[in-house]
Amino acid sequence: MPDVRAVIFDLDGVLTDTAEYHYRGWQRLADEEGVPFDREKNEALRGVSRNESLLLLLDGREVSEEAFAEMAARKNGYYLEYLQDMSPADLLPGAVALVEDAKARGWKVAIGSSSKNAGFVLDALGITELFDAVADGHSVDRAKPEPDLFLEAAAMLGVPPESCVVIEDAESGVDAAIAAGMIAVGVGPEERVGHAPHRFATVEDIDLDQVLDTTD
Ligand code: BG6
Ligand code: MG
Repeated sequence: MPDVRAVIFDLDGVLTDTAEYHYRGWQRLADEEGVPFDREKNEALRGVSRNESLLLLLDGREVSEEAFAEMAARKNGYYLEYLQDMSPADLLPGAVALVEDAKARGWKVAIGSSSKNAGFVLDALGITELFDAVADGHSVDRAKPEPDLFLEAAAMLGVPPESCVVIEDAESGVDAAIAAGMIAVGVGPEERVGHAPHRFATVEDIDLDQVLDTTD
């Protein structure tokens, strides 16, 4: 059984369904720019940083640096608009119970989110105080699928990577957790997170005992 000492939670799509709001922001921008985009194309953007997402959305279309920055800011404005009414009611079922389960085992808990809005979202959800550390879109230069963000979260907690469980809803996030040498738990469909060694359909279904029992 692994010597687990911490759980690092992705935020968007794991603790709250902001993944939907990110998608709507990108869709609105794409429609305004006349760029073909849909939910299927959005799959590749899940968990990916703002700038990297815009590059994927533009799909090789060349724009000036200025126009690029304006589009990224416009999408962020739409995203923040959708978050206006966010409250603790927007926590996904089972999210807080899972954080508390980890804490009750004496483990540390951290956020490992690519978002520069993570602090705002955590405050709106009323859960900032639950976490021992927050690594977000401001913390590292290289975004997921690079391991840097999760390694930074582990360093903030003072826990070695192999003692960390990561909860992720995105393909790029699972890749980052595996690259960090952590125990990756995917939340969502097989097509998205089937490459994680552990997978549950929803956060409510996550069983930490099962993760421990099925990890060498
Ligand atoms: C991730 C989301 O958590 O953060 C992505 O899954 C998003 O969809 C990324 O692009 C960056 O977020 P933000 O809020 O900094 O634009
Ligand atoms: Mg996510």
